[in-house]
Amino acid sequence: MTGLVATGLEYRYPDGRVAVDRVDLEVGPGARIGLTGRNGSGKSTLLLLLAGLVRPAAGTLSLDGAGPAVGGAERSGWRGRVGLVFQDSDDQLLAPTVRDDVEYGPRNLGLPADVVAERVDRVLALLEIADLAPRPIHALSLGQRRRVAIAGVLAMEPKVLLLDEPTAGLDPLGTAALLECLDRLHRAGTAIVLATLDLELALRWSDRLIVLDEGRVVEAGPPDVVLSSAHCARLMGRGPAILAVGRQLRAAGVLPSGENLPRDLDQLLFWLPEPPKREPRVLTLR
Ligand SMILES: Nc1ncnc2c1ncn2[C@@H]1O[C@H](COP(=O)(O)OP(=O)(O)OP(=O)(O)O)[C@@H](O)[C@H]1O
Ligand SMILES: [Mg+2]
Repeated sequence: MTGLVATGLEYRYPDGRVAVDRVDLEVGPGARIGLTGRNGSGKSTLLLLLAGLVRPAAGTLSLDGAGPAVGGAERSGWRGRVGLVFQDSDDQLLAPTVRDDVEYGPRNLGLPADVVAERVDRVLALLEIADLAPRPIHALSLGQRRRVAIAGVLAMEPKVLLLDEPTAGLDPLGTAALLECLDRLHRAGTAIVLATLDLELALRWSDRLIVLDEGRVVEAGPPDVVLSSAHCARLMGRGPAILAVGRQLRAAGVLPSGENLPRDLDQLLFWLPEPPKREPRVLTLR
């Protein structure tokens, strides 16, 4: 089986709390999987397990048929191939400057210095933070730190990219740039799992959306279907306005029943009727 496969993953914290409960997951090459669920539902813990950063109490993990081995070299081999961008960038950024931090991963992979330098320059440019390269980490804004954390993981060129709330704290254009960058990686075959509480993002970005609750997968499927389910509404509220408008258009017969619900604003606008042409008002001055 190619891709990342998890079966029966379980994790409990030392206080006995079960955070991930018998999770099965398949992340095929080039997959775009959204992960959502209430605060404390287990998203971050599941990503830590998939990244091999904590050891499951039960279950198995494999990438292209081979599991993560316990021990130094092979363990870091897994980490180079499955990269996690942490929810809190401060947990990720440990080097003194931006360039040092982004260099750390590829250098640890044992790559020659010129390859490391080329990769670092490329990801810094990709995330539009080349100007930050010499800056100390502690002197960065929250959104800048998040971009550096993402750059550090991208510099490893992982086969599977795990992102925990990557758009939190990014400005709107920063979010758009990140999504564009994820699209490029997706087209190049990188599999991506993205945890988010932003249901509009989950709707427009994911090919498949998974909802966790109390550590268990409670819904999984196409994002428009999952986000339209009563179960998801009970856990996450009404969901994206775009879907509600789409459902109304379908009920009114404007959106043919065989068509998918719109997943972003452009798709929604496509189905909305043209506004009536209004004659320009002529103001008469008295
Ligand atoms: N270090 C820890 N020690 C004990 N329990 C923890 C620890 N970290 C998380 N938990 C618990 O594990 C469960 C899952 O937490 P997790 O952080 O995975 O949830 P999440 O879905 O990522 O939440 P959020 O949306 O707030 O980021 C929660 O009940 C949480 O309280
Ligand atoms: Mg979390």
